[in-house]
Amino acid sequence: MKNILITGGAGYIGSHTAVQLIEAGFNPIIIDDLSNSEEKVLDRLEEITGRKLTFYKGDCIDRALLDKISSEHQLAGVIHFAAFKAVGESTLQPLKYYQNNLGSLLTILDFMKEKEIKDLVFSSSCTVYGQPDILPVTEATPRQDAESPYGNTKKICEDILVDLVKSQAGIRVISLRYFNPVGAHPSGKIGELPIGTPANLVPFVTQTAAGIREKLTVFGDDYDTIDGSCVRDFIHVMDLADAHVKALAYLGEQQDDFYDVFNVGTGNGNTVLEVITTFEKVNEVKVNYVIGARRAGDIVKIWADTAKINSVLNWYPSYSLEDSLRDSWNWQKTL
Ligand code: NAD
Ligand code: WQD
Repeated sequence: MKNILITGGAGYIGSHTAVQLIEAGFNPIIIDDLSNSEEKVLDRLEEITGRKLTFYKGDCIDRALLDKISSEHQLAGVIHFAAFKAVGESTLQPLKYYQNNLGSLLTILDFMKEKEIKDLVFSSSCTVYGQPDILPVTEATPRQDAESPYGNTKKICEDILVDLVKSQAGIRVISLRYFNPVGAHPSGKIGELPIGTPANLVPFVTQTAAGIREKLTVFGDDYDTIDGSCVRDFIHVMDLADAHVKALAYLGEQQDDFYDVFNVGTGNGNTVLEVITTFEKVNEVKVNYVIGARRAGDIVKIWADTAKINSVLNWYPSYSLEDSLRDSWNWQKTL
């Protein structure tokens, strides 16, 4: 069974990917410093999978810890999720973001090179596209100047990966550009754990429905969209997790010095107001919301062209927006 190191594997997307990897016959090995997650996620993963998971608590910038892991397990590949992701915080504390997000990737790459671990799947983001002129966005859509230090770290990380592959370091890399991950494991045992006030839409919706937040503010209803609110491509986290499994399998078939990038979205755009009304309908619960001012720096509309990941990785989403919002609510109710 191939061992795959998952950095940030106790986090939202990493934990769901651990489940999918086990189902696909891989053995995930998790390293996480729990800076944005909780150790109980590991127990939950064991409940879901019926398997004991190997977990190292620590920072993946800690090279000595990585060396220890590789001395204890032969690693076939790495999925690198570990990063800070709060866009607003990144504008206030840019160095924290550059240090962690670039530092962790650089350490992992150096480690992989030295230990001759070939395969890497990297967590990138649709944030690299900014507000594109033409929709939907394909992987060939030009990247734009980042709107935040967080977004810039994703752009720079992609550039680092391209340069390293060009240098014939012997590695094979896929960057997955995630659109908006939502939903939770259908069991309700794992999901997104926002710390403090959520910045993202769906956790704010679920917390409002649960009465934790008094009301949700819709940031603008006067945009040029079908109902005036912004449009995003909301992808179920289980489908997103599955894309990592497909990416790893595909990397295994490639020659050395391989790099490619794939959008991971549903290919459909939904407005903020559609998310709210769909959430209310599938869960038969009201969401107290008001229309407020536009949020500075918001992208008006973006959704993915998924033709490339469909045809090359044979990946298709299998969860609907309704499924995502039902699973997000099931998860919220356990918190
Ligand atoms: P998350 O915060 O839930 O998970 C990240 C995990 O990494 C956390 O468990 C955190 O404790 C851990 N971590 C952070 N820095 C670390 C370090 N130096 N060493 C060890 N562990 C560390 O976030 P997520 O939503 O699961 O995101 C995973 C990845 O996907 C990130 O790289 C993020 O930037 C990217 N991404 C997320 C979204 C999104 O909306 N959630 C969208 C696009 C891209
Ligand atoms: C979605 C829509 C808001 C909260 C962020 C990151 C991006 C990427 C994905 C990581 C927007 C609206 C939200 C609320 C609202 N992450 N909204 N009221 O803006 O697509 O992007 O996540 O790489 O980098 O910036 O996601 O969930 O913040 O917002 O009306 O209380 O919901 O205005 O239109 P976004 P989001």
